[in-house]
Amino acid sequence: MLKLNRSFASAFVAEDELVSYMDERADVLARCQAGEDRYADSLGWLSVDEWASDAILDRTCALAEQIRSMADTFVVIGVGGSNNGSRSVQAALAPEGARLVWAGNTLSAWELNRVLDELEGHDVVIDCIAKNFETLEPGSSFRLLRQYLVERYGREEAARRIVCTGTIGSPLEDLCRAEGYTFVPFATNVGGRYTALTEVHLLPMAVAGVDIRALVAGARTMERLLRTAPAGENSAFAYASARNMLWDRGYRVELLSFFEPRFRWFSKWWEQLFAESEGKDGRGIFPAAAECSEELHSLGQFVQDGTHILFETFLDVLEPGAGDSLVLGGTDVADAFGYLDGKDFWDINKASFTATREAHAGMLPCFTLELDRLDEEHMGMLFYWFAFACYASGELLGVNPFDQPGVEAYKRLMFDALGK
Ligand code: PA5
Repeated sequence: MLKLNRSFASAFVAEDELVSYMDERADVLARCQAGEDRYADSLGWLSVDEWASDAILDRTCALAEQIRSMADTFVVIGVGGSNNGSRSVQAALAPEGARLVWAGNTLSAWELNRVLDELEGHDVVIDCIAKNFETLEPGSSFRLLRQYLVERYGREEAARRIVCTGTIGSPLEDLCRAEGYTFVPFATNVGGRYTALTEVHLLPMAVAGVDIRALVAGARTMERLLRTAPAGENSAFAYASARNMLWDRGYRVELLSFFEPRFRWFSKWWEQLFAESEGKDGRGIFPAAAECSEELHSLGQFVQDGTHILFETFLDVLEPGAGDSLVLGGTDVADAFGYLDGKDFWDINKASFTATREAHAGMLPCFTLELDRLDEEHMGMLFYWFAFACYASGELLGVNPFDQPGVEAYKRLMFDALGK
């Protein structure tokens, strides 16, 4: 299960104030739980079953199986909301299916050459994920990798090795029909950053060997909780409310901190979710991430001692899983770390976390999102919990959480420069 621990923030956001704030805005929660008509074209994720029904999961697992029978390497071509979800899960759980290689998220020649090098000696299938098929990174990578496949396998065999995930009626679907590529429909009423629990990400996860049924089951559990719990008992609404109270009090940055580097890509998913959903109309809390304990030796100085503009949300996994134990043996070498003899890195890391939280909580509000375990079920819960919280938070802030008009300005200039 997931639990929001607010005890290290209560000196800054008093519990009774938070409860009153939530009670006074219970109508906002009710609107989010029902889903508002004005956002009907973006709320497909709110009901997990709409895009992750048992029938869709069966179809996805069957296609994943077929891909794995042809390839040991699956190239996921996508950027932002078409990349971060599956990449989060692959990085967090290190599943043992096909190897995933990431492309379509860069324009760097060096990086793309590295991707091509990674394919040598492997059987390859590629998946181009692009909602509108207008984005430069996936469009250019897809052409590069398509040409690579044709050169290597010939046009007919290459076509068997190409999957595309795109909007029905988009130019990408036309291309698939013309060339005989496998086409997977992009959830029509879900914006990119909210698609973690749709085929956009479930297919790469399944190819990588993730138990997507368990992941979706976790998300369904979270949906049931969050769409029924009243304001005072709704942890995602509490988080959304607390961050808006802090916004009103001048806090401008939220740091998502974690002591498991396996959350690195999840933090990118989270950053995109909140940055694109809330950063508009001159408003919004800037989402940033800190991979600890490493960042304690860089950002840590600012967090503890710098401008009072930020609050912190820790991700904490309570129970160790496979691979989470490593005991440091004693030594007869005088290395000055004798106090670590026989200690487990799990406990050393926890000591670093609890000390950090205690120190930071003296200076800034600290929330902790506690996960019992790090597994498929909890990844599904995390995706739904934050997506719901983001919707509610955007509503409280008074912005549209589902558009991203701000990313158009640079694109216009870039497309002009490239002669589009
Ligand atoms: O949330 C969104 O819709 C965006 O951030 C998209 O995910 C991102 O821009 C990628 O778009 P596309 O899949 O059309 O290339």
